[in-house]
Amino acid sequence: MLNFTSKLMAKRVFSGFRPTGKQHIGNYLGAIQNCISLQNDYDCIYCVVDIHALTTLENTERLQEDIYEMAIDWLAAGIDPQKSIIFVQSHVPQVMELHTIFSMVTPLSWLLRVPTFKEKVKMQPHNVNYGLVGYPVLMTADIALYKGEIVPVGEDQLPHLELAREIVRRFNSLFGNAFPEPQAKLTSFPLILGLDGVQKMSKSFNNYIEIAASPQGISERVMTAFTDPERKYRSDPGHPDMCNIFCLHKFFTPTRVEEIASECRTAGIGCVDCKKMLAQSISSTLEPFRERRAIIASKPNYVAEVLADGATRAEAIAKDTMKEVKEKMGLL
Ligand code: TRP
Repeated sequence: MLNFTSKLMAKRVFSGFRPTGKQHIGNYLGAIQNCISLQNDYDCIYCVVDIHALTTLENTERLQEDIYEMAIDWLAAGIDPQKSIIFVQSHVPQVMELHTIFSMVTPLSWLLRVPTFKEKVKMQPHNVNYGLVGYPVLMTADIALYKGEIVPVGEDQLPHLELAREIVRRFNSLFGNAFPEPQAKLTSFPLILGLDGVQKMSKSFNNYIEIAASPQGISERVMTAFTDPERKYRSDPGHPDMCNIFCLHKFFTPTRVEEIASECRTAGIGCVDCKKMLAQSISSTLEPFRERRAIIASKPNYVAEVLADGATRAEAIAKDTMKEVKEKMGLL
C-alpha cells in the first residue's frame, strides 16, 4: 500500500475546493480526475474549503450536506485516503492563525487589484465583506500551512497563485525562509459545456449532469440538452464540431467518435438517437462510480471518519509549521 512514508521524496501537492455538494461531470473531467492521477506520484493534500465558502454564502443551512455530498463523490471517484489526505479546512483551525499572520505582511493594494475580488464586488454589492478581500490571503495560508509546492488549479486561480508566491516571498524575506513558493499546475481542463451548449457546465447554470445520477436521471438530463443549432430537421446534415453532445461523446464514447461524427454529418442518425447513445455511454462509464458510492453510503460514519483522520494527519503538519512560523517571527 502506498502512503506518505513510501513517497518520502515526493513533492507536496495541495489543492482546495469549495463545498459545492454533489459533483457533476464537468467537475469530474476537470478537477477530480486530475487529483486522482496525481495521488501516485505526489504527497497530495485535498481540502474542502468551508471557510472560503463563507465569503459568499448568505446562509449555512446546506453547508454540512454540501461538504458530505462532495466528499463522498470524491471518495467514490477514486480519491484514496490511504494515499492522500482529504480533510475539511475548518477542522484544522491553525489555517486561520496563519491567515491573520499573513494579513500583516500583505499590502491592501495587492488585494484590491485581484480580478476575482473585483468580480465578487460586482456580483454581491450588498455583501462586500472583509473576508472577501482576504480570500487570497486565506488561500495562501492553506497552501503554506502544509508547505504545498504544487497547486493543481484552473486558469481562473492563477492571479491567486501569483499573490500566494508574493506573500510567502515577503514572509521569507522578512522573517527567514519558511515556505516554498507554490507553483500552479494547470490542469489541461477540457472545457465542458453545459447542457445548454452555451455556458460551461456549472451548478449555478443548472446545465449539469451529476456523476451520482441514476441511468434514468442521466437520460432525462441528456434529453433536455441543446444540440447543433443549425440542424433543425431530422434530415438536415449535422455539424458535430458545433455540437455539445458530440463533444461529450469524445469523453464518454471514445471508441465510436469517428462513426458518430460521420453518421451525424450524413444525417444517418438524428439528434435523439445520438443523445440516447450518449446517455447510455455516460451511464455505463459511471456505473462503477455509482456502485462504490452506494457501498460507501451504506457504511455509517465512513465519510466522517475519513475526514476526521485526514484532519488529524493535516493538523500534525500544521502544528509543526506554526511552531516554526512563531519562532521565526519572535512570537515564541
Ligand atoms: N480559491 C479556490 C477556488 O475558488 C479554492 C481554494 C481555496 C484553493 N484554497 C485553495 C485552491 C488552495 C488551491 C489551493 O476554486
